[in-house]
Amino acid sequence: MRTPLVAGNWKMNKTVELTRSLLAEMVPDLKSVMGVEKVVCPPYTSLLAASAMLTGTDIGLGAQDLYWEPSGAYTGEISPQMVAELCRYVIIGHSERRTYFGETDETVNRKTKAALANYLIPIVCVGETLAQYEANETAEVVTHQIREGLKDLDREQTGRIVIAYEPVWAIGTGRAATAEGANQVIAGVIRAALHEMYGQKMAEATRVLYGGSVTAANAAEFFGMPDIDGALVGGASLKAPDFLTITKAAKKPSY
Ligand code: PGA
Repeated sequence: MRTPLVAGNWKMNKTVELTRSLLAEMVPDLKSVMGVEKVVCPPYTSLLAASAMLTGTDIGLGAQDLYWEPSGAYTGEISPQMVAELCRYVIIGHSERRTYFGETDETVNRKTKAALANYLIPIVCVGETLAQYEANETAEVVTHQIREGLKDLDREQTGRIVIAYEPVWAIGTGRAATAEGANQVIAGVIRAALHEMYGQKMAEATRVLYGGSVTAANAAEFFGMPDIDGALVGGASLKAPDFLTITKAAKKPSY
């Protein structure tokens, strides 16, 4: 059974001071939600303050990116070791990184390997653009992203991977995918590619999240789908009551 996971991607929002006030509002209710892995991913500059506030809770901390080298002359970059000092999770290959910062399936692959080697849980993002969606290329594009982004991983480490299916046209647009449509891509494309690469057990055990305009109002629909194991939430993760509602909606009925 796959434990649901809800992660908040704060993107380039919140100073340290604003991080503290959002977490002060969020943590008391969020930590009492059982049966769901909860993660917040503030900007790097807020990680230390967030880590102090999350200590002793079951809320995980994640970074939004990392670089694959352990140290050295890479101005502006953050190593996997630096991330692992404070975080358990890291988002890799978000579409905004691919679009604005030149990330490719190759860099995603290097970063994923570096994250796994440093005992982090990578949340690897894949998804097609609007043009690709309209040209009916979703299956082809997402299969390619999975095959290249997750190739040659150490099989012992693949159990830790989380994937987020985020159609680019659904991110920050208010136009979410349909729950059925997202489930179809996750089951028929993502799990199928994982099966082909790492076998049925891995394909069935891997948690795959949906992301793209998830809100307090539509989250339950996504979580009702058999192959959707949670969400990567952008805008709505900056509002404590909305993020709480989304997290509660991810609970399996037995909780
Ligand atoms: P959104 O962003 O929820 O604001 O659409 C999702 C994401 O980028 O992960």
